[in-house]
Amino acid sequence: MSSKDAVLVPPKHIAAIAPYQAGKPIEELAREFGLDPARIVKLASNENPLGMPESARLAIMEAVSGLGRYPDPAGFDLKQALSTRYDVPQDWLTLGNGSNDILELVASTLLEPGSAVVYAQHAFVVYKLATQARGARHIMVPAKDYGHDLPAMLEAIDDSTRLVFIANPNNPTGTYLPNAEIEAFLAGLTARHGTRVTVVLDEAYNEFLEPELRVDSIGLVKRYANLIVSRSFSKAYGLAGLRVGFAVAQPVLTDLLNRVRQPFNVNSLAQAAAIAALKDQEFQVRSFNVNREGKAQLQQAFEKLGLEYVPSYANFVLVRVGDAARINQELLKRGVIVRPVAGDGLPQWLRISIGLKNENQQFIDALTDILKPAHS
Ligand SMILES: Cc1ncc(COP(=O)(O)O)c(C=O)c1O
Repeated sequence: MSSKDAVLVPPKHIAAIAPYQAGKPIEELAREFGLDPARIVKLASNENPLGMPESARLAIMEAVSGLGRYPDPAGFDLKQALSTRYDVPQDWLTLGNGSNDILELVASTLLEPGSAVVYAQHAFVVYKLATQARGARHIMVPAKDYGHDLPAMLEAIDDSTRLVFIANPNNPTGTYLPNAEIEAFLAGLTARHGTRVTVVLDEAYNEFLEPELRVDSIGLVKRYANLIVSRSFSKAYGLAGLRVGFAVAQPVLTDLLNRVRQPFNVNSLAQAAAIAALKDQEFQVRSFNVNREGKAQLQQAFEKLGLEYVPSYANFVLVRVGDAARINQELLKRGVIVRPVAGDGLPQWLRISIGLKNENQQFIDALTDILKPAHS
């Protein structure tokens, strides 16, 4: 075919993007291996194993009758609920179609071809995708003990750097940065570069941290005009399918994000459900406890099996299984979907989302069976 016949000629930086690999859907695995979908467990996408809160389901039922109209473009009611909960004015809040949308909005707002973005090796893959999509350059800083090396990230910032992404806790490694390290990074960054470089502190898994470990990120936003905190309703709040997240930043930055934001980026059902979930303390406590117990269950099993794992601060655990591609395949045959992370530079590891007790056990039993010596 001559180049004249080529239908699409995307820009080089778009053609270079490797598509996002989502967790395999249950129905797809059932078809592939002839399995009963009811017996398949999916521990692959860091979803809430409790499903969505009943309070959110009821709020959705009520909101359904209004679906003939566009959603509130300002998200007034949800912002009011967030404003009360986090003690920030409404003009510090940006709503996103998932917190993924917030990450994309920030990239659209601040990057142009030629700008650079700093993030850590093994950090959330969307940082790279959002950078590439703007024709910007990424500066990936080697991880330290599978987590972010913030002093090295500070050193890596160059004259063209506009943005730094920090995931706390990080996905897929589950590592965590304490308040003091983040404060030191922000102070160092601002002393050297002023507010020329913006920092996104991505706290999608914040609610799974023990309360005493949580960073005072909203307090930091009040002190740093170049800080954006992003949060998600997909994980602890159980609303992954609705796509809703938010950002907190000072008004000047928030105003810029909202210029780029699609006016109706968060749908009416998502807004109604998020308000209900935010108020549902009982569900939040239950999510936290199920996660804490499931994490202990998985980590103890890995210890018993003699497998290295990265102690997790989130709702998944990263475990080193060796030949991860083969073990993943064997798990699939046994009806267990987990996440291979070779694409994140971790070819010997698998990421296991924390499920309900029986789901975790089904995974542990399958893994134990796969790893048992052939002669036993
Ligand atoms: C670190 C991190 N940030 C952001 C997101 C985006 O989540 P959502 O768009 O569902 O809020 C994820 C999802 O897996 C994540 O792991």
